[in-house]
Amino acid sequence: MRISYTALETKVRGMIKEKRFLHSLGVVAVSKALAARFSLDPEDAAYIGIYHDAYRYSCDASSPAFCREHGIDVFPEEEREPMLLHGALAAVHFSQDAEGDVPDYFRIAVRHHTLGHRRMGKYGAVLYIADYMEPGRKHLDDSDRERILSGERLEDMIITIMDMQREYFMREGIAEASVSRELYDYIKAGGELE
Ligand SMILES: [Fe+2]
Ligand SMILES: [Fe+2]
Repeated sequence: MRISYTALETKVRGMIKEKRFLHSLGVVAVSKALAARFSLDPEDAAYIGIYHDAYRYSCDASSPAFCREHGIDVFPEEEREPMLLHGALAAVHFSQDAEGDVPDYFRIAVRHHTLGHRRMGKYGAVLYIADYMEPGRKHLDDSDRERILSGERLEDMIITIMDMQREYFMREGIAEASVSRELYDYIKAGGELE
C-alpha cells in the first residue's frame, strides 16, 4: 500500500519551493481534467502530477552516474545539463517516497516529463501536456491553451506544444534534444502513446 495523495502532497510540499509547489498543484488540476476526458484514472494522474517535480532542486554533477546506477539511460542533453534529470531522480525515488509500490507507468511518466519520449505512455502524455500548460505558466495565453486543448487526442496536443516549443527554440538558438525529436517524428508518422 502506498501513502494517500494527500500525504504525498504534504511530503512534496516540504521538498520544493512554494512556487514550484503551486506549479505542481496546477499540473494536478490539468492532469485530472485530461485524465477524465481521455478515460484514464484522474487519481493516478493526480498522484503522478503532484510528485513530478519533487527532485527539481536535487540534481547535481553526480546525478547522471546515480541514474545509470539505478538502471536509467541518460541522454546526452541530460549529461550536459543534469537539472534535466529531476524526473529521472523522481522515478528512482517514487516507491520510497510513496512508502509502497507504484506502477511502472507512474515511474515512466515522471521520468520522461521534461524532454518527452515516445514510450512515455498515456500518463506521461497527460503529465507532459499539463506541465506545459497549467494555469500558472505565464508564457501561454488563453488562446494558446485553447489551441492545445482543441486537439482530439493527447498526441495532437503534444504536437501543438512541440511546435510552440520549436518556435521558441529557434528564436533562442536552442537545439532540440534528439529524444524529443524522436517523439515528434513518431507521432507525425502515426504512432500512438500507449
Ligand atoms: Fe519538471
Ligand atoms: Fe513541472
